[in-house]
Amino acid sequence: MSTAVAPVNEQVSKFIASPRKMLINGKWVDSVSGKTFPTYDPSTGKEMAYIAEGDKADINLAVTAARNAFEKGPWRKMSASERGRLIWKLGDLLEKYTEEFAQLESLDNGKPVGIARVADVPLAVDLFRYMAGWATKIEGNTLPISAKGKYLAYTLREPVGVVGQIIPWNFPLLMAAWKLGPALAAGCTVILKPAEQTPLSAIRLGELFMEAGFPEGVVNVVPGYGETAGAALAAHNDVDKIAFTGSTEVGKIILKAAAGNLKKVSLELGGKSPNVVFKDADMKTAIPGAAMAIFFNHGQCCCAGSRLYVEKDAFDEVVEGVAEQAKNIKLGPGMNADTQMGPLVSDEQMARVTSYIESGLKEGAKAVVGGKRHGDKGYFVEPTVLVNTTEDMKCVKEEIFGPVVAAIPFERTDEMVERANNNPYGLAAAVWTKDISKAHRMAHDLRAGTVWINCYNVFDAAMPFGGYKESGWGREMGHDALELYTETKAVCAKL
Ligand code: NAI
Ligand code: MG
Repeated sequence: MSTAVAPVNEQVSKFIASPRKMLINGKWVDSVSGKTFPTYDPSTGKEMAYIAEGDKADINLAVTAARNAFEKGPWRKMSASERGRLIWKLGDLLEKYTEEFAQLESLDNGKPVGIARVADVPLAVDLFRYMAGWATKIEGNTLPISAKGKYLAYTLREPVGVVGQIIPWNFPLLMAAWKLGPALAAGCTVILKPAEQTPLSAIRLGELFMEAGFPEGVVNVVPGYGETAGAALAAHNDVDKIAFTGSTEVGKIILKAAAGNLKKVSLELGGKSPNVVFKDADMKTAIPGAAMAIFFNHGQCCCAGSRLYVEKDAFDEVVEGVAEQAKNIKLGPGMNADTQMGPLVSDEQMARVTSYIESGLKEGAKAVVGGKRHGDKGYFVEPTVLVNTTEDMKCVKEEIFGPVVAAIPFERTDEMVERANNNPYGLAAAVWTKDISKAHRMAHDLRAGTVWINCYNVFDAAMPFGGYKESGWGREMGHDALELYTETKAVCAKL
């Protein structure tokens, strides 16, 4: 493992050198308690930056600011076109500061800076631009009603109001973009709570909202822990809607907290996605594709292809191929130019992932490659391919959220589909085959919010993303995302 770390951008060094504040009502403020919390460099485990620690009192202030901005501020009076222009400007600013954001993301999360540069940041920029275009296209309908008499009936699509957004640490900037873009296009105001492991890019993004000229209180950023700041936001009675991405466990807690005022809830939760390789697949793309499906972002993807179903005759070839890919992945600190896989985000995540591997091995699985922590510094885990696995093993049933794939052979397609669908999750799935009819039949049969055919991890601002079953409620991105942030009002006038 190489250890030389690329020089840190001067702005980034300055940014992490002093404690960062939170953004409430257009001002950068300390927490009411005066407390701060540290973020850690996942490649060393050392403290890296300090952040104002938001809690209930700070959430209350941020909700008041967002409520005022929604009811009384210039935001509601702005035309849709002006709103769209501001969101577009935010996208332009983010693009201008690509290098800074890529480095912040890499330092905080551990992901390779080269990946953040070509994936996380540009995808976030594109999302803001895509949603900027929607601001002027949120339309209602005229309705041919059949009630006795003459009426003009139509619908309006109005912003849902004050929105709380709680995001995870695996794609900190991109998840902020997925949530902020449509909420702002719809005319909502927002309190964003980044994950405690990775608050830096959300705070820097808050600065860009101010630089772009968003009115005060429209976007508030309150970093802090889930059990305190997150819980206070989810339970707040003056929040109209909560949008969450994270664990299924916390998704259920949020749902209960939201019951107090029946705020609207959207959830993007876990997954255990089946990735199906048929023997007639083009192995030159299917094998690296299956490796990328699980190892991209170190497996810390809700849609990771963690259950690799391979048609029996091709099983050895695919497993050997994926294991070979895994062996060649270069592990190192995210800031190193030649790193292909960085550390996991936290010691907690490393412990969780290695314990899943251990439980698999104990239940009879075999690691063809990997199988343990990598090195003794930082939170690195070896890319791991498990065979001799069955669907009743914990490591095959539950989300691991690390670079660990379970390979499972199958003989009959119908029986494989049943097994693939027999899991509480339904976020994503993929099929690799040259038979176009089979591919589309599978796309219909697999119960998942996204099905990729001969590709994996293709995300686009125009393509809705979200889950069936316990993978969540609602769809982010695409025009479906606007549903999450608008209410429909029916207006009926007697003529
Ligand atoms: P988590 O669900 O605890 O954290 C996600 C976000 O929720 C963070 O911002 C956190 O501060 C907040 N949060 C935590 N407890 C909360 C509460 N009681 N009320 C309100 N907000 C709360 O996820 P964690 O613990 O970081 O990771 C555990 C597992 O969750 C992972 O191993 C993975 O399986 C899954 N996960 C899934 C993600 C996805 O993209 N769907 C992202 C992150 C984690
Ligand atoms: Mg948690």
